[in-house]
Amino acid sequence: MKFFIDTANLDQIKEAQDLGVLDGVTTNPSLMAKEGITGAAKITQHYIDICEAVDGDVSAEVISTDFEGMVREGEALAALHPQIVVKIPMIKDGIKALKYFSDRGIKTNCTLVFSVGQALLAAKAGASYVSPFIGRLDDVSTDGLQLIEDIRLVYDNYGFETEILAASVRHTMHVVDCAKIGADVITGPLSSIMGLLNHPLTDIGLAKFLEDYAKGNN
Ligand code: G3P
Repeated sequence: MKFFIDTANLDQIKEAQDLGVLDGVTTNPSLMAKEGITGAAKITQHYIDICEAVDGDVSAEVISTDFEGMVREGEALAALHPQIVVKIPMIKDGIKALKYFSDRGIKTNCTLVFSVGQALLAAKAGASYVSPFIGRLDDVSTDGLQLIEDIRLVYDNYGFETEILAASVRHTMHVVDCAKIGADVITGPLSSIMGLLNHPLTDIGLAKFLEDYAKGNN
């Protein structure tokens, strides 16, 4: 299972990378704006900075919604760095763009996926990753994890190689549940990954070990 971090915050990206368990980064225009990264030049440089800070795939999202625009933008993004994965929205021209990039060996991430049908279409078009937004489904009283389970079933039925990238992960339990279901990748905030560390019995146990060691050495 791969761990991606879903942020444009370089400090958090570096912290996750430093832990040694990071496999990649996902970003989107909202996450860029949150960090105050606006304008094409700054955004482009930020993608390069992120790529240089991590070892794995870095999803960079196109803004165009027409096929020609997505191709133009996606090719420019892919040329920035070998780690760039072109992130394409789940719309009709996006499907055509996924196929275009897949035919040319350029990695893609199909974003804003909210149904099994959309995930099936993205896989047929040769997407490298498909990103179902589980947190946003939970937000509207729909079971996001059930969607991951359903996509897993469909992909396994036919041996699709598209990786299921569970996105809009909000907390640690989402990560654990995605692992149980068999999502290939999760992308979430740093806190959702760091939360995996925590258990009070670990803290109590370690305190006791250190206390007993100190007794024997006094
Ligand atoms: O990876 C998709 C993500 O950025 C959306 O997350 O929390 O805004 O639903 P959220």
